[in-house]
Amino acid sequence: MVILDLNNIDLSCVLVIFGGTGDLTHRKLLPAIYNLKHSGKLPDSFAVVSIGRKDLTDEAYREQAYESIKNFSRFKEIDERLWQDIAGRIYYKRFEFEDSSGYENLKAFLEQLDVKHNSKGNRIFYLAVAPEYFGLITDELNKQNMVVNGDSWQRLIIEKPFGRNLSSAQKLNKKIKEVFSEDNTYRIDHYLGKEMIQSLMVLRFANSIFEPLWNNKYIDNIQISSSETVGVENRGGYYETSGALKDMVQNHMLQLLTLTAMEPPINLNSKSIRDEKIKILRSLEEITPKKIREDIVRGQYGEGIINNKNVIGYRQEDRVSPSSNTETFVALKLHVDNFRWAGVPFYIRTGKRMKTKSTEIIIQFKSVPKVLYAKEYETLKPNLLVIGVQPREGIYLKFNTKRPGTENFIIPVDMDFCQTCQFESNTPEAYERLIFDVMNGDNTLFTSWDEVEYSWKFVDTISSQWGDSKLVLPNYEAGSYGPVEANELLTKDSRQWWNL
Ligand code: BG6
Repeated sequence: MVILDLNNIDLSCVLVIFGGTGDLTHRKLLPAIYNLKHSGKLPDSFAVVSIGRKDLTDEAYREQAYESIKNFSRFKEIDERLWQDIAGRIYYKRFEFEDSSGYENLKAFLEQLDVKHNSKGNRIFYLAVAPEYFGLITDELNKQNMVVNGDSWQRLIIEKPFGRNLSSAQKLNKKIKEVFSEDNTYRIDHYLGKEMIQSLMVLRFANSIFEPLWNNKYIDNIQISSSETVGVENRGGYYETSGALKDMVQNHMLQLLTLTAMEPPINLNSKSIRDEKIKILRSLEEITPKKIREDIVRGQYGEGIINNKNVIGYRQEDRVSPSSNTETFVALKLHVDNFRWAGVPFYIRTGKRMKTKSTEIIIQFKSVPKVLYAKEYETLKPNLLVIGVQPREGIYLKFNTKRPGTENFIIPVDMDFCQTCQFESNTPEAYERLIFDVMNGDNTLFTSWDEVEYSWKFVDTISSQWGDSKLVLPNYEAGSYGPVEANELLTKDSRQWWNL
């Protein structure tokens, strides 16, 4: 994380979005651009070119962009003056990604924009398209000499999934590397842009009270959970080829694990931080068939009730096979085999159509010796440090105290820092931060190739050994905490998930 002197950094550029009419662009990218403008973070020398297949004029596209910003910006009232400024910088181009002449025209158009908006030849190419187009687009950009990185810079942002497994990820990376260097490739993991994930390193390394306890002497186990109430929505086709393991664990969950477990980096440079994260991925215990049987649980939601509404099961979703065995839930017990974490289980859990929408990292400390209070009060609760990632951002510590009164009655209480309450729940959104970082050339909050490679190796070992023989799906009701086997994963270790 580079500490930037923003007065000395030239942010001038054109943001070129491939997939300009897609959901991501409308829900996240255009609102993020408006939000950056609102926060004074966009330079005057800036423009956006959205590329899609639909036949739209600039005017029609701007009207759609306005609606998206109105609906999805974190600023509830649109400032018309700011919008007018942005509208004058948004352009739309229609062409098929396979059509070379489209890139030739795009190049000439971008050069005109450099004159009009003073964007100096700097480009961010954002691939918000299906993965099969990644290589094709970078190839075409190359053929048109649109990636030079001499006096000007050109950077590439790639959305997930980065490959479907290790070998497809390797092929894709090789292809992209022919055009963009690793330094100029920004692989999005939007969890890294979430405020509390950025706070995690600060919590650990800017305080003297936590780090001395952050090891196997004091920590009993760590739980990293990310549950969603939504189902697969309109992404059944993609999800059938992915499942929760590839959709969430390969990227977001392993990223949360690395940031929670890594050693202090030698400085805050992106390389130093990434080096430490990779060491954690390399220290993950080997996945054996026994481990797959005993420590990894798969689930799939059946019908159920969420927010008082009946919802259908996964197998009934659009573009999902009625006999699908794709997992919509996964829970794993992992060990990080290094000096700090030997013996401490990391329990990871993620699922769709669960009871609540919540992402949390919970550090459970070891219990006090069974003398004094712990002897008398069988139910004495352990200390928990909870990092609330979403929807409630914050950190709280659960500890025991005496209930006021004459008897010695012990109750757990919270010391609670609610970030969402203190900062009016209007903290910058992940995409805002991430786009801004790309303009600055800071890739700390993006996934490096090495991280991608190690996490695919890990996930491939699991998915290649998963047989279907004994699996009976669906095995959890929509609106629940997942399959009972996920609870057993902890109860057999005399532990429990903390559904806080
Ligand atoms: C995406 C997954 O990466 O993350 C989705 O593809 C999932 O399936 C989403 O719903 C969750 O993100 P968030 O920010 O809502 O927790």
